[in-house]
Amino acid sequence: MSRVDPGDFGILDGISEVIATTRSESGIPNAAPIGIIRNQSSDQICVRLFYGSHTRQNVTETGEIVANIMHDPVMYVESTFGDLDLDVFEYPDEMECPVLKNANAWLLFECERSKGNLFELTPVKGVVCNKPPVCVNRGFNAVIESLVHATRYQLKRDPGYLDLIGHYDMIVQICGGNREKEAILKLKNIMEGVL
Ligand SMILES: Cc1cc2nc3c(=O)[nH]c(=O)nc-3n(C[C@H](O)[C@H](O)[C@H](O)COP(=O)(O)O)c2cc1C
Repeated sequence: MSRVDPGDFGILDGISEVIATTRSESGIPNAAPIGIIRNQSSDQICVRLFYGSHTRQNVTETGEIVANIMHDPVMYVESTFGDLDLDVFEYPDEMECPVLKNANAWLLFECERSKGNLFELTPVKGVVCNKPPVCVNRGFNAVIESLVHATRYQLKRDPGYLDLIGHYDMIVQICGGNREKEAILKLKNIMEGVL
């Protein structure tokens, strides 16, 4: 059993949403939101990576993935639907896998496919950065929910997802800060332009 405890990095029982960073075999960094699935009673930790993403391709090529624990809603939107600027990545300790500079914490995992879309994770090393604690903000959570519905809309074209995004937009306007409002606006623009 690994001595690195994901709980020390905020990855608790259930599904933790993080921005996962990976790199391609040729060294191109990538970031995308991913849910880390932890079952504390069986001491298992894994991810479900759907076919067709850069993240899955990179993990298959390199066997590594970094979970970046962070609360920037705009980066969640940008990394779901596009590429982040190269200057948001860094490579501490000459690591090959990139991490995000503004993460509150990051944790490197070895990642091995078990079956189907399921990949098992083994924590290797990580850093808890010296950042202040972050309270639950319903606006931030609403951005994340909207993004999940947007990715489902992209696949299924069910207009019900658009209604759900409208509902979460309302929560962002009431509970979110400027960054959450900027994120949901970006998402709505993407939905109008691309999806
Ligand atoms: C909050 C959130 C969680 C997500 N979790 C997963 C996941 O666990 N597995 C997955 O394959 N895609 C997940 N996605 C979708 C990917 O982030 C999305 O397909 C992304 O475009 C993949 O980017 P990439 O091609 O750069 O890897 C999630 C999206 C969001 C917004």
